[in-house]
Amino acid sequence: MDVVDPAWLPPDTWRAIGRRRIRLTGHGLLVDTVAGELGQACARFGGELVRSTGGPPCDVEMGLGGEAALGAEGFAITTGSGPVRLRAHQPHGLLYGMFHLLRLGDAPASTTCRPAVPRRMLDHWDNVDVHPVMGQVERGYAGSSLFWRAGAPRRDLTRVTTYARMLASCGINAVALNNVNVHATEARLLTDRLGEVAELAGVFRRYGIRTHLSVSFAAPVLHGLDTADPLDVRVRRWWEHATAAVYQDIPDFGGYLVKADSEGRPGPFTYGRTHADGANLLADALAPHGGVVHWRAFVYNHRQDWRDRSIDRARAAFDHFTPHDGTFRDNVVLQVKHGPMDFQAREPVSPLIPAMPRTRIGVEFQITQEYTGQQRHVCYLAPMWSELLRGTHGPALADSASEFVAVANVGDDPFWTGHPLAQANLYAFGRLAWDPGLDPAAVLDEWITLTFPDTPARLGDALHAIMQNSWATYERYTAPLGVGFMVHPGDHYGPAVDGYEYSRWGTYHHADRDGVGVDRTVTTGTGQAAQYPEPWRRIYDSRPDCPDELVLFFHHLPYTHVLRSGVTVIQHIYDTHFAGADEVAVMRGRWAELSGTLPPAAYERVAELLDEQVRSAGEWRDQVNSYFFRKSGVPDAHGRRIY
Ligand code: GCU
Repeated sequence: MDVVDPAWLPPDTWRAIGRRRIRLTGHGLLVDTVAGELGQACARFGGELVRSTGGPPCDVEMGLGGEAALGAEGFAITTGSGPVRLRAHQPHGLLYGMFHLLRLGDAPASTTCRPAVPRRMLDHWDNVDVHPVMGQVERGYAGSSLFWRAGAPRRDLTRVTTYARMLASCGINAVALNNVNVHATEARLLTDRLGEVAELAGVFRRYGIRTHLSVSFAAPVLHGLDTADPLDVRVRRWWEHATAAVYQDIPDFGGYLVKADSEGRPGPFTYGRTHADGANLLADALAPHGGVVHWRAFVYNHRQDWRDRSIDRARAAFDHFTPHDGTFRDNVVLQVKHGPMDFQAREPVSPLIPAMPRTRIGVEFQITQEYTGQQRHVCYLAPMWSELLRGTHGPALADSASEFVAVANVGDDPFWTGHPLAQANLYAFGRLAWDPGLDPAAVLDEWITLTFPDTPARLGDALHAIMQNSWATYERYTAPLGVGFMVHPGDHYGPAVDGYEYSRWGTYHHADRDGVGVDRTVTTGTGQAAQYPEPWRRIYDSRPDCPDELVLFFHHLPYTHVLRSGVTVIQHIYDTHFAGADEVAVMRGRWAELSGTLPPAAYERVAELLDEQVRSAGEWRDQVNSYFFRKSGVPDAHGRRIY
């Protein structure tokens, strides 16, 4: 049998709680789950789990009876001279409270916690069949799917159970099982392969997680109707029946996730209907059963002519969806990627997100590191998410989000995520979705302490040093100043500065001999800057006021333009690329010091990947610097080697 890494829940993490006498009252599936976890911990570490109400007080007293204000998932922990008390209003709160006690370890402190949003969801991009280009998991960097392998469901769901437990421990309560690009085999999960979904839903349910499914908008056609027109009564009936059948088997089914009229997927545009018509069709079928539709806003022209500068992909979602604000049913969640392009290491926030006050918005992040090193590079993403949520350089996403969603990064790799340190991104997404105000550095330390419970200080310090600024480092050696892309087309790994410059995907940098960047200003550009609310519209539109981090996203600037930081654009490109690659070498050096402090398999895996990161960062540095030196003819002020 494969040895699977325990991630952030190794047995020793349960020591503090497992040594205590714990009383747990209440009944039901989730209380049984909590009892199972605590029973195991007590058996291992010498504590005791008491399920009866009478008798002398225990060290920890857990049960329902907390105030209604705690809501469905909140909990309150109180400490003092007597027992530690954990109270929840609903069983979900006991589950989350138990995992919070793990985080608190030997020093439980009084606290009241409830999640900022009611749904914190992971989207798996898993295929049932191995897709000829995308593989078993689209943009997956961690092996095969946890759910399917080469067309068939996995028989042994032990890993899925472990996974569900990991997700619950960081607060995730919903998963969509399959890829948003729903191909023929996967479309059958909704119908004759529903049993596979039901089985997985049974595993997730035990950890308080509801199961959702990606569906094809053309499902009625795939199953024999001659249309999928959302206003056709036969189509409505088809969805009502299909949905009723789903709820027969999965009474707590979460709902549908739909990518429509996007990158070639079918959608309502085929029938001259709107996205509100499309989303509401599915919402009406789900409403009687309490389900929701996650309708993605990733709609743009993916057959653009690069010569035509009047089209701007960054405008598209706003232009398509804002006219429909207020027309979506209450059980529609418009799922919007955090930026207007596509999960780049640096983008402004999507202007659509603050522009739909009468629509429920789910903000979508990408944990799988498609554009951030593909789980071969260390890139701790929580600092980026935190900036976006808090509004460091734009409108705060947390203010407009009804819920948070992220594309998952796991697979059947023994470390779950390919790169062992990429586990931290999964953990941190759950924690920030629960509380967007958390400090990403503190979340990192939580993850380090849980994952390595007997951490010598030297290991903790080194991990923190390697990971905390790794997103900033990644940004330094890749595309500069918010311009984005410059990745190798198709697989999106490694540099290809002009890889997407003359393609149909709308992802350009417009570098020429004089300058670089996309003019999205109101007077001379595409006007995308005007899609933002004030003061951001004015700030982004202004060369001097636009934050350096985003300046090439909004402006086409001469290489000699002096940034707010005081250096020119070209010198910034050189400086950051040399610095970024140097920082990776330092990370590699710090890791070498850790030999012997970690399990050898984890140490070796990270060491090999850091070697690749050193190589790749050097390649990025040299290609980007050479490209811009050759375009601009401006030498590096410090005379460093440029090819
Ligand atoms: C990116 C990614 C695709 C994915 C798409 C999406 O473009 O490269 O693989 O299908 O996003 O989010 O739908």
